[in-house]
Amino acid sequence: MSTHSRWTKSTLIFGGAAIWGLLLVSCVTTSRTVVAAPTIPGATFVGSNKCSQCHDETAHSFQGAVHAKLIVQGANGVETGCESCHGPASLHVKAGGGKDNILNPTAETCFQCHVDKRGEFALPGAHPVMSGKMSCSDCHNPHGADITSTTTLALEAQNESCVKCHTQQAGPFVFEHGGSREGCVVCHNPHGSINAKMLKARDSNLCLQCHLLAPTSPNSGQINANALGHSVANHTARMMQGSCWAAGCHEAVHGSNTSYHLRY
Ligand code: HEC
Ligand code: HEC
Ligand code: HEC
Ligand code: HEC
Ligand code: HEC
Ligand code: HEC
Ligand code: HEC
Repeated sequence: MSTHSRWTKSTLIFGGAAIWGLLLVSCVTTSRTVVAAPTIPGATFVGSNKCSQCHDETAHSFQGAVHAKLIVQGANGVETGCESCHGPASLHVKAGGGKDNILNPTAETCFQCHVDKRGEFALPGAHPVMSGKMSCSDCHNPHGADITSTTTLALEAQNESCVKCHTQQAGPFVFEHGGSREGCVVCHNPHGSINAKMLKARDSNLCLQCHLLAPTSPNSGQINANALGHSVANHTARMMQGSCWAAGCHEAVHGSNTSYHLRY
């Protein structure tokens, strides 16, 4: 399966990664992510470059990924890139492959290190990962060089992640909402939130992060949500009636085909 040149290449790649900067992780890296690679009875870590022998394509796309730089310290302290999710692979490699000797990672595998994510997905308004209806890889490509690449702030990139399921919010709309250009995560917590609809804020502050409230004149005390140079209407009374997207106001936050002001 593998050729000599392929071996050399992959050795250089992973060797390069090692020189450029390993995330040296023992028990704790950051306050949120701990490194606790899964275990497989009787198996030891062999290092990612072993995998490229037989999983060349996956190994190739994985170059430069955050997870490629993980190391588990100790007597057997090799870099454990692939194995940080799939578990130690010595038995798998020895057997020349197989399914029972290697882990097929679930959300539980990810939670082992991303401890804070378990809490996010336990919130009432979360994506249904806990119930097994969705997986982390619906939004994250675990083998990509950038695991969040399909979920960056660019709307174009998000078309691949969020709107492949939420087609209604995708548009195109006659009147696009300029706020959407910066991506769904401007307003939504993608994992879960304490607020309904996974919103980052339950009230008008959600919108005011861009549409700053500015007094109509220094002394009037009246509020004008005009920071983007649009509304000249005084919003003082309106703001007391509920959120900006309350019924009768800007209901069509994602875009509208009929109303420039995103009313409906
Ligand atoms: C000698 C070749 C070889 C090496 C080296 C190898 N694998 Fe595999 N691997 C295979 C083959 C063949 C299969 C397909 C097994 C099947 O479909 O029955 C496989 C399947 C897998 C699967 C899928 C299992 C499933 O449930 O479908 C994973 C995950 C995996 N390998 C991870 C790894 C990792 C991680 C490494 C490196 C630490 C590695 N492999 C090294 C040959 C290899
Ligand atoms: C961040 C965790 C993570 C890392 C690191 C990781 N994988 Fe995976 N891998 C997964 C997940 C999750 C799946 C299941 C994907 C799915 O269901 O779409 C998977 C599936 C697989 C499969 C079976 C399906 C397929 O895509 O062929 C193979 C083989 C595999 N991984 C090999 C590797 C190799 C080789 C590496 C390192 C170069 C690696 N993985 C690194 C999480 C990871
Ligand atoms: C062995 C521990 C470990 C496992 C298992 C693991 N990760 Fe990670 N992951 C890390 C570390 C360490 C970082 C880098 C530090 C951080 O972002 O907190 C990271 C970073 C990330 C990032 C951010 C990348 C970036 O560019 O900022 C995402 C997204 C991610 N992991 C998703 C996953 C998913 C999905 C799984 C399961 C399929 C998974 N991780 C499994 C340890 C792990
Ligand atoms: C509905 C899509 C979606 C699902 C499902 C999802 N994520 Fe994410 N995740 C995202 C997006 C989008 C970002 C980027 C957030 C940002 O840029 O503000 C992200 C960011 C991250 C990050 C890095 C930033 C941070 O919050 O620490 C980690 C780590 C992560 N996700 C882990 C996971 C794990 C683990 C799972 C599964 C248990 C998972 N994600 C499931 C969409 C998702
Ligand atoms: C694989 C399909 C899938 C992807 C990808 C996905 N979602 Fe979801 N989303 C769902 C499902 C399923 C629900 C739960 C619907 C329910 O409970 O009725 C949901 C619920 C939601 C809700 C709450 C809806 C409500 O009525 O309460 C919001 C907001 C949301 N997703 C935003 C996002 C964003 C933002 C992204 C991208 C970061 C994303 N979704 C990616 C499938 C997906
Ligand atoms: C990320 C920044 C951002 C956020 C957050 C945001 N917007 Fe916008 N909004 C914009 C931009 C940019 C435009 C377009 C301005 C232009 O075309 O010059 C716009 C335009 C609008 C318009 C149409 C112009 C007008 O005056 O009628 C309405 C209505 C609107 N936003 C309402 C909202 C509401 C309601 C929320 C909260 C749910 C919100 N916006 C959150 C950036 C944002
Ligand atoms: C400017 C802020 C903003 C942006 C950007 C945004 N949303 Fe929303 N979204 C909202 C608000 C506010 C609601 C709640 C509407 C309600 O309760 O009537 C909502 C509701 C939702 C819902 C629940 C169903 C519905 O329409 O009420 C889904 C699904 C959703 N958004 C997905 C997305 C996706 C996917 C994107 C990116 C393409 C996105 N949102 C971008 C503010 C935003």
